[in-house]
Amino acid sequence: MPPRVPSLEDLKDSAPASRAAQPRAFPSLLLRVFLPLLALGVVGFSALGIYVTWQIGSLPAAASSAGGPPCFEESLGLDRWIRPPVNLMHSMSDEELLWRASWAPQVSKYPFKRIPKVAFMFLTKGPLPLSPLWEKFFRGNEGRYSIYVHSLPSYEANFTSTSVFYQRQIPSKVSEWGQMSMCDAERRLLANALLDISNEWFLLLSESCIPLYDFNITYQYLMRSRYNFIGVTDDPGPYGRGRYNPEMAPEVSIEQWRKGSQWFEVNRKLAIYIIKDTMYYPKFEKYCRPHCYVDEHYFPTMLYIQSPNFLANRSLTWVDWSRGGAHPATFGRKDITEAFLMKVIAGKNCSYNDQLSTMCYLFARKFAPNALEPLLQLAPTILGFG
Ligand SMILES: *[C@@H]1O[C@H](CO)[C@@H](O)[C@H](O)[C@H]1NC(C)=O
Ligand SMILES: *[C@@H]1O[C@H](CO)[C@@H](O)[C@H](O)[C@H]1NC(C)=O
Ligand SMILES: *[C@@H]1O[C@H](CO)[C@@H](O)[C@H](O)[C@H]1NC(C)=O
Ligand SMILES: *[C@@H]1O[C@H](CO)[C@@H](O)[C@H](O)[C@H]1NC(C)=O
Repeated sequence: MPPRVPSLEDLKDSAPASRAAQPRAFPSLLLRVFLPLLALGVVGFSALGIYVTWQIGSLPAAASSAGGPPCFEESLGLDRWIRPPVNLMHSMSDEELLWRASWAPQVSKYPFKRIPKVAFMFLTKGPLPLSPLWEKFFRGNEGRYSIYVHSLPSYEANFTSTSVFYQRQIPSKVSEWGQMSMCDAERRLLANALLDISNEWFLLLSESCIPLYDFNITYQYLMRSRYNFIGVTDDPGPYGRGRYNPEMAPEVSIEQWRKGSQWFEVNRKLAIYIIKDTMYYPKFEKYCRPHCYVDEHYFPTMLYIQSPNFLANRSLTWVDWSRGGAHPATFGRKDITEAFLMKVIAGKNCSYNDQLSTMCYLFARKFAPNALEPLLQLAPTILGFG
């Protein structure tokens, strides 16, 4: 059992005693000099009271739902700080959520056995057509992953209680490609995942993503990595530096302007950087609008400026831009062969922890719903699970 944590009551008891002496001298002064003022004060306080009541009333049921059902006994030990939220649905506003998620321990050693988890954050429109593949990927690895799904608010997920995606939906808002609302959704996913103190890695995925290795390999690759995975390139052309707006200076100079795909894999430290940022956010919100696509620039540029030494400067998500055009290639039933998957898995060299490696990608996109069947067939032999 962890040692008992001092409660708020303990702290109150040890408050300085001198304060208790003060009110004694007060009444006589009060009667002579302050009585008229007191009368005024009463009027003021009632006005304040009405204001406060009105303010609290306008908050969305935060107080009542935070403690869960009344029959649920609240833990008074360390447990209540380290247990992940029972219910992912909450009534915090984005502002409240980001503030809450930015809390971080200052003592670096955990006083309990913490098994670090990987947070898989799915940014989707609605359905997850490849979920049967992911179910096989996750099975048997309970306790080492958490799942979060952000979809259009109008979408109602219908996973059954045996699914790993059951009740893993977070409060969501409409988000559009290339708009700040997309970065807001990504920050919302990060913030919800940060509420679980055991989450150590945070991966952004879409409904068209697939895993390329089994869970154990994926887990170890991340846990042993010295660097965070996000594409960070300096593109001198019209789709890179061409999207920079000089109004962003001095926070962002053109030399610091970076580009990368939105699919990142970051650790807890960088996840907190991203959700706590108030310096770069207003600049990107105001000055990076189409034809500047903010989800390709905000996080890469901000992280490049703040913590270049923590970055691998590449993402772990494979995608094929070779067909040209504004969107990467989508792969369907006919494309899924053993040779194709082998090319995706081992077709490149890169650096991993400063060593040459052929393991450059853990995930790939974009896969159409009809790719599911051949993927399920090939998974046991090629991907190592299922
Ligand atoms: C969920 O809804 C989708 C589309 O409406 C349907 O195809 C699917 O079978 C449903 N799944 C379950 C578990 O009911
Ligand atoms: C994955 O790792 C866990 C914990 O180390 C182990 O119990 C399990 O057998 C491994 N699974 C596979 C498929 O290697
Ligand atoms: C990524 O780029 C930054 C800045 O250019 C550099 O400091 C860092 O060492 C690079 N990361 C790796 C793993 O090479
Ligand atoms: C990766 O590096 C190895 C050894 O240097 C080389 O033989 C191989 O052709 C490279 N593969 C690719 C795809 O560049």
